[in-house]
Amino acid sequence: MEQQVTTKKVFIRTLGCQMNVRDSEVIAGLLGKEGYQRTTIEQEASVIIYNTCSVRQHAENKVWSGLGKFRKAKTDNRKAIIGLVGCMAQNYKEAIFERAPQVDFIVGPSDIHKIPEIVNKFRVDKAQLRDRKLLERKIWETNGSIRPEEIYHSGFREDKNHAYVVISEGCSNFCSYCIVPYVRGRLRNRDYKDIIKEIEEAVDREITNITLLGQNVNAYKSAVNFIELLKLVNDINGLKQFSFITSHPRDTSIDLFKAMASLGKIKKYLHLPVQSGSERILQLMKRGYTRRFYLDLIRAYRKIVKDGILTSDIIVGFPGEKEEDFQDTYNLMKQVEFDSAYIFKYSPRPHTQAENLPDDVPQKEKERRHQLILALQKDISKRRRGNA
Ligand code: 5AD
Ligand code: SF4
Repeated sequence: MEQQVTTKKVFIRTLGCQMNVRDSEVIAGLLGKEGYQRTTIEQEASVIIYNTCSVRQHAENKVWSGLGKFRKAKTDNRKAIIGLVGCMAQNYKEAIFERAPQVDFIVGPSDIHKIPEIVNKFRVDKAQLRDRKLLERKIWETNGSIRPEEIYHSGFREDKNHAYVVISEGCSNFCSYCIVPYVRGRLRNRDYKDIIKEIEEAVDREITNITLLGQNVNAYKSAVNFIELLKLVNDINGLKQFSFITSHPRDTSIDLFKAMASLGKIKKYLHLPVQSGSERILQLMKRGYTRRFYLDLIRAYRKIVKDGILTSDIIVGFPGEKEEDFQDTYNLMKQVEFDSAYIFKYSPRPHTQAENLPDDVPQKEKERRHQLILALQKDISKRRRGNA
């Protein structure tokens, strides 16, 4: 039906981190300029986009099985265009077409600005040429490195009260388990003037609560460093509150805590993944800090940032993790008492250094450790909420 062919509605499903949440919004904003409306009803969309995560196998499995559902969207009247974007696109590139032939286009995280042009190509083919061969063709873009600054200024915001603002893209840490540097590329910092401008644009639209985003947010460095950026953000007229995620312990300092304590608009909240409490495993993970260093940081944080919230990420079952390593993590968590923590079972990832280590903690044992830490943290979280 002609009507369906010209329907300009896009459905975007987002998996993974806040960076992906923001990227989906950026994609919706870019397509909005082409007349597309974002819809939450998949059945009425003529463009379906899956914004994917590769951080653990589990996240990828969800996409492989979820994609099956969209097969119908291609064969019913809509002849929907299906795109797979984000980290999995970068991880598997064209191989995705073999496993999921219903996918029409693939776009990596650094190429999202090309999405409107790609979608338009398919539309022209569909509306005018009606050539099956063209409809069946595949497009992929996974070679980009720099996102044009304009993409952050489409003005489209999903949430009317809160905005994510990307300050840096990618990560250069190369923790041995982590796929991020391979799928999102090395750390690139946005110009601080562009960041401030984007926040001011949000404030103009009465969004007064923002979160600065970076895979390693506190490694930020342009003409100003991270702490100087926080001061500039704090000075923005009309902004009421802001926070930042995710920090790396190695880039965290007493000066950062002092800034958090003294800048009135910063939320007293720190997400500081420790990943493991074992000295040996921290080294194998290539985290770049010791258990002692982490514990000293936390002590300083609690002293300087009064009543500051503290959260963390933990991985259990990293290659070579013995019972005593696990106990070190368990005890660290008992000692630190995070307000909350995300606990993950280690998942071997392509491209990473740890992929070459034997994944030698049996699944059952990973599960046991996972459950033990979850139970411990549940208890601690409850107690801390009670005390708050
Ligand atoms: N296996 C399990 N968890 C992982 N994370 C990152 N890579 C892996 C992996 N290979 C976790 C880390 C990180 C969070 C976003 O995901 O804890 O902080
Ligand atoms: Fe997942 Fe990492 Fe990509 Fe975010 S950056 S979507 S956590 S792989």
